Amino acid sequence: MKRIQDFSVIDTLWLNSSSYILILKSETSIEKIDPGNFAEIKIPDAADIFLRRPISVYDVDHEKKEISFYIKAIGKGTSKLGSLLPGSKVNIVYPLGNSYTPVKNKNALIVGGGSGIAPFKLLGEQLRGLGSKVTYLFGARTSEEIVLTDVFSKLGKFNCTTEDGSLGEKGLVTSHSIFKNIKYFDIVYTCGPDPMMKAIAKIAENNNIRCEASLENMMACGIGVCLCCVTPTIRGNAVVCSEGPVFQSTDLKW
Ligand SMILES: Cc1cc2nc3c(=O)[nH]c(=O)nc-3n(C[C@H](O)[C@H](O)[C@H](O)COP(=O)(O)OP(=O)(O)OC[C@H]3O[C@@H](n4cnc5c(N)ncnc54)[C@H](O)[C@@H]3O)c2cc1C
Ligand code: FES
Repeated sequence: MKRIQDFSVIDTLWLNSSSYILILKSETSIEKIDPGNFAEIKIPDAADIFLRRPISVYDVDHEKKEISFYIKAIGKGTSKLGSLLPGSKVNIVYPLGNSYTPVKNKNALIVGGGSGIAPFKLLGEQLRGLGSKVTYLFGARTSEEIVLTDVFSKLGKFNCTTEDGSLGEKGLVTSHSIFKNIKYFDIVYTCGPDPMMKAIAKIAENNNIRCEASLENMMACGIGVCLCCVTPTIRGNAVVCSEGPVFQSTDLKW
């Protein structure tokens, strides 16, 4: 069930110069969250930032009543969130959107780039719990941007590419050698920049493998009212915040 809830900042863990994990704690219980769900976060003490910012849920601990977000500081709102001191109040609307389809006892490839790695801790945990084997492939410009490898390596086999070759294979994520054996995988999940997701979807589709992509369209209300986030699909326009953000790639007209 969707909820508007107050949280307090517990900690902000900076992973590199531009990304961090924001850990929030509530005094009341936390709603059930599925991998791919996001929250609309109100930016506190920022009169000039009117709209909430959509951010995927990175992790949740129901016992501790904590929820955390992996955030890349790219503008006013995400930078402000990264500067909050412990104890600061943050109001969020969650859980929003749909989620990735879980699969049992399958081989899953998870491809992420940029802030698109955020939903993949919860997804990896869910898939492992269902007996599926998880392989991660993340792409970045340099090794500094490849973060949380310890977390993801515990959940599956971890691979990466960097454009400058400083970690993993050199090049774009789509040129990784794993795609020579793409038929090993039963399903591909992806989140990240549109051009990356389109290229990944094409590889999966050419090999008749189901691919699910989570879109990061610009959003305002996050609850299907303002229609600013629509995307064309084979069934007409879809409202990304409420019908997505996860879509089967073959449904998208991109
Ligand atoms: C469903 C969903 C889940 C998301 N999950 C995460 C997440 O887990 N972690 C994370 O760091 N980010 C995530 N994002 C992206 C995040 O919402 C934007 O980076 C954020 O809203 C930017 O706010 P800002 O005030 O910092 O930037 P602004 O000052 O508003 O903008 C700075 C620059 O970023 C561009 N920008 C703003 N929003 C987006 C966007 N949605 N996509 C691409 N460019 C944008 C603007 O055009 C501008 O050039 C997600 C977006 C969506 C829609
Ligand atoms: S953000 Fe308002 S309808 Fe999707």
